[in-house]
Amino acid sequence: MRPVKLAFPLLCDDSNYFSLMFTTDYFAEIIERGISDIVYPAKPAGLFAPIRYTLEGGGKRLRPVLLLASAEAFGCNPEVALPQAVGIEMFHNFTLLHDDVMDNADVRRGRPTVHRRWNSSTAILSGDAMLTMATQFMADCDKSLMPDVMAMFNKTAMEIYMGQQYDMDFEHRDDVTVDEYLEMIRLKTSVLLACACRIGAMLAGADEKSADAMYRYGELLGLAFQLQDDYLDTYGDPALFGKEIGGDIINEKKTWLWINAMAEARERMEKILDRKLTDYLKVKEIKEVYDSLDLPARSHELITRYTDMAINALSEAGIPAEARAFFTSLAGKSVSRSH
Ligand code: IPE
Ligand code: IPE
Ligand code: MG
Ligand code: MG
Ligand code: MG
Repeated sequence: MRPVKLAFPLLCDDSNYFSLMFTTDYFAEIIERGISDIVYPAKPAGLFAPIRYTLEGGGKRLRPVLLLASAEAFGCNPEVALPQAVGIEMFHNFTLLHDDVMDNADVRRGRPTVHRRWNSSTAILSGDAMLTMATQFMADCDKSLMPDVMAMFNKTAMEIYMGQQYDMDFEHRDDVTVDEYLEMIRLKTSVLLACACRIGAMLAGADEKSADAMYRYGELLGLAFQLQDDYLDTYGDPALFGKEIGGDIINEKKTWLWINAMAEARERMEKILDRKLTDYLKVKEIKEVYDSLDLPARSHELITRYTDMAINALSEAGIPAEARAFFTSLAGKSVSRSH
């Protein structure tokens, strides 16, 4: 067990406290507690059962870990930031319910998606309820911080919707550039990781420069994270990834892999697409193009570059060495992941 809250943990001479700081297991433990402590109205079950199903169905909990670790990096006991950690995970899960409808996805975290287990109306409405609950959790902080925390959260939410719209628009375009792709993933994915880092810092009373550096860390990590997600969508092991492999190719998502294959082998790609193949063959043949262009290894180079940039951004944050080591290791793990 962790010692009780200390007002200035970084100045504390309790060696037990130091040994428990930045412990992934501890973050995981309080996040799971925060999630299992959520009180749902008993009725209507059709609205709340899918929320429980989603939140209690696993996930890496990356965003709440970032938020709690960022709060701790600036001397705040993570328990204080727990409502916002739960709020950001709730918000993330809301986006997944809607995303799975938009992407026509059958499986998430190794289980049927909400719109498959129930139906699209359920995914939409339970998603709406999750957005509202997330907002309530977010606002549950010190009154003096609330306006800034909510402004950050709402700005991020709007950017994510913009990113999701670009993602959908790009399905119908064949001239999307790498820069457009990077901006789209910055919006749909990075800003939420960045927001988690910044809100953690804000709750701990960090100065602007430090909060900006943490935001930048999250943003760059997010680019690497989504590039890895796109890689895994084609090359992952379905048993580990928990999502259907090949969904991005089937939907003609403009991923870094796809955009580069089009730039370097447009004729081959178009021939495959013109044949109106079954999903299985379409994925197989497009993957062969990716392989022949060495795109998996090249995308890994880019992922490593963004990860290194994220780690470098930490040098401006003014956080203790232990915190820096935690965020450095987290970046390494989250971009070499298999799920
Ligand atoms: C999925 O996010 C959506 C993306 C931004 C790629 P995660 O990969 O963090 O999903 P969970 O929460 O761990 O299932
Ligand atoms: C989703 O991107 C980003 C958001 C949910 C905002 P993806 O569509 O690639 O996420 P997955 O692969 O379905 O988790
Ligand atoms: Mg999507
Ligand atoms: Mg999706
Ligand atoms: Mg994906």
